[in-house]
Amino acid sequence: MARAMGPSPTNEFDYDTIARQYDRHRRVGGPFIAPLARLAHDVGARRVLELGPGTGNSARGFLDAWPCELVALEQSAGMIAHARSKTIPGRWVRGDARELPFRDASFDMVFAVLVLQHIPEADAVIRECRRIVGDGCAAFVTAPRDFIEHHPLRPYFPSFSRIDLERFQPEGDLLELMQSEGFAETGLIAVEAEPQPIDAAYLEKIANKFISTFHLIPDAEFQSGLAALRAEIERKGRLDEDMVWRSVVVWGRTRHAARNGCA
Ligand SMILES: C[S@@+](CC[C@H](N)C(=O)[O-])C[C@H]1O[C@@H](n2cnc3c(N)ncnc32)[C@H](O)[C@@H]1O
Repeated sequence: MARAMGPSPTNEFDYDTIARQYDRHRRVGGPFIAPLARLAHDVGARRVLELGPGTGNSARGFLDAWPCELVALEQSAGMIAHARSKTIPGRWVRGDARELPFRDASFDMVFAVLVLQHIPEADAVIRECRRIVGDGCAAFVTAPRDFIEHHPLRPYFPSFSRIDLERFQPEGDLLELMQSEGFAETGLIAVEAEPQPIDAAYLEKIANKFISTFHLIPDAEFQSGLAALRAEIERKGRLDEDMVWRSVVVWGRTRHAARNGCA
């Protein structure tokens, strides 16, 4: 039986409704691609599965860093249609990460970028990952607790941190789950993006709700936070604090590196 790790209401989010505008404020790749490629290198991953690839930005970045046979499993038909239109090499499959339609040990690596916060049953996902990875690894990119708690926008949107603390599983819990589901060696890799000014360009991304958290904030709070932020940016040009986006890669290998002969 799957163990829900976060309350459900804030996890509900329909990606079909935003698939066409998703890429407007998103780029290919990200600072987590290098650690994912290193993990792939360490296990010599040839067959790789990405869970919840969305419109394929992480898939594209990963393939550039680590060419491989990629399968991408996504539950939103709208996101898949958009990803397919970008002709990223790989096979796109519609499905649910909690019940993978693949044989045991059919992949060398599985990864997911900012997906588990949408799935309260993280244990079911991790169990499935352990089943379909043979001698290899799994990696989940997520938001660390500390980043959510001290998010620079929380003075403007008081619910921001609460919403994300409810839906993002603590990285330590995910690590423990990986151990209990049978990953022999596990670890955390902290990742940090280049600082970005919170200025008029950033304000436009927020106004377009470029991350799902903004869709989950009550509308009145969102509008008043946006107005306050706009007034501050018009007055000063940018906020004093930059946005330094942080994430963490929670990884597990099915065997110890020493036994594998890996670095
Ligand atoms: C925040 S987006 C991340 C997309 C992509 N990984 C990226 O980094 O751009 C989360 C994605 O996970 C997908 N997703 C959510 N729950 C899922 C599930 N149970 N199985 C498969 N995909 C899921 C959503 O449809 C959405 O495309």
